Amino acid sequence: MRLLPWGPGDLLRRLDDVLSVYGAAMGYSPELLATRRGYIAAHAHRQGFRAVASVTDEGTLAGFGYGYLSGPGQWWHDQICAALPRPDRIWLADCFELVELHVHPAAQGNGLGRTQLRALLEAAPGRTVLLSTPEADEATSRAWRLYRGFDFVDVLRGFRFPGDERAFGVLGRPLPLPSRV
Ligand SMILES: CC(C)(COP(=O)(O)OP(=O)(O)OC[C@H]1O[C@@H](n2cnc3c(N)ncnc32)[C@H](O)[C@@H]1OP(=O)(O)O)[C@@H](O)C(=O)NCCC(=O)NCCS
Repeated sequence: MRLLPWGPGDLLRRLDDVLSVYGAAMGYSPELLATRRGYIAAHAHRQGFRAVASVTDEGTLAGFGYGYLSGPGQWWHDQICAALPRPDRIWLADCFELVELHVHPAAQGNGLGRTQLRALLEAAPGRTVLLSTPEADEATSRAWRLYRGFDFVDVLRGFRFPGDERAFGVLGRPLPLPSRV
């Protein structure tokens, strides 16, 4: 297994594989994935874009993650900004949004998520990183254990994005990452 830094062109070239891993990891239907295709392609061109991929020796995509600098006018940024009490909006002042981080279910639980997250955060611009993840049992959810292991703290809990029935936790931590994490 190799961990590769990806530029925008790499993500776009392997968009089918990215959507396949994303769909398998999140349990999303092909119909929902089709609606995400254009968004993900557009994200690759955003300022501060950083991406990593876990690729097997045979070239199969096992996982990926990406993010970019969060800014006004971006849907996610504006939703979070509106929900935060004014003093807490400092989180968004120079912020890397970790947009997606997924490992194919067949490869989960082997440290790939942790390796991808570390590489992304080491490459990320900005003074903070924020992400949203579906609310889950912190003790048993791989995602929550992963983020807590990197010292992410609660920024918003039980947050609901328009058009999504699920509740989300919005988590953040300062950047850069200390070498001990
Ligand atoms: C979340 C995700 C990226 C983590 O990647 P991963 O390669 O499976 O996870 P890792 O092997 O790096 O382990 C991450 C944490 O999960 C824990 N973990 C591993 N197997 C586990 C299991 N069976 N049950 C509970 N926790 C487990 C690890 O111990 C680690 O926590 P720790 O640091 O406290 O030990 C991946 O599981 C995934 O894509 N999940 C589905 C999609 C998702 O939730 N994406 C992120 C939210 S948007």
